[in-house]
Amino acid sequence: MAGGVFYASMNTIDRLLARADNALRTLSGAVHAARPNPAGPLQAEDLAPEDRQLAGALMRVNHVGEVCAQALYQAQALTARTDGMRRQMDRASREEGDHLAWTQQRLTELGARPSLLNPLWYAGAFGIGLLAGRLGDGVSLGFVVETERQVEQHLATHLDRLPAADQRSRAIVAAMKDDEARHADEAQGAGGQALPAPVTWLMRGAARVMTTTAHRI
Ligand SMILES: [Fe+2]
Ligand SMILES: [Fe+2]
Repeated sequence: MAGGVFYASMNTIDRLLARADNALRTLSGAVHAARPNPAGPLQAEDLAPEDRQLAGALMRVNHVGEVCAQALYQAQALTARTDGMRRQMDRASREEGDHLAWTQQRLTELGARPSLLNPLWYAGAFGIGLLAGRLGDGVSLGFVVETERQVEQHLATHLDRLPAADQRSRAIVAAMKDDEARHADEAQGAGGQALPAPVTWLMRGAARVMTTTAHRI
C-alpha cells in the first residue's frame, strides 16, 4: 500500500517535471520540429523593409499563439481525467511544437525577435488550461475545439495580410492553419462540448488583447 502511494506520487512528480521541462524549452527557444519546415524548399525573397517589418510582427503574433498552445495543451494534459485524453493532448502538443519551431525559425530569418512577454503569455494560458481541465474532459475538449477554430480563422486573416512576396511565412501559416483545423475536428470527434456563447466571446477578447500586444512587444 505504502509502495503504491510512493509510486503514485513519483508518477505525479514525473509528470510535473515533464511539464516544467516543456515550459523551459518553450520559453528558451530550445525547440525542434519533428516535421520538416513547410517553407523548406522555397526561395527567400528580398522583402522591402516595410514588408519585412510587417511579416516579422505577424509572425511574432503567431509565435506567441504557439507559446500559448504549448501552455494550454500541457495544462490540459496535466488535468486530463483519462489516459486517452492525456495522450490526445500530448499528441496535439507535439504538433504545436512543430508550429512553435517553424515560427521561431521564420522570426530569425526575418531578423525579428519573439515577444518579450512570452513568460506572461505562457503563465496566463497555463492557468486557463488548468481551469478548462478542472471542468472535466468534455469541457476541456470543447475548449480545444473553440480555441483551434478561432486560431484557424485568425491564421486565415494572416494569409490575407502577409506580404504576397513572403512565400516562406505564407507556407508556414498555411500548414499551421490545416493542422489547427484537424486539431479542432479531432477534439470535436473525441466528445468536445459546445461552450456557452459568453465564454467564446471572452476567449475572442483575450485573443485580441494578446494579438494586439504581441504585434508590437
Ligand atoms: Fe499551432
Ligand atoms: Fe492546434
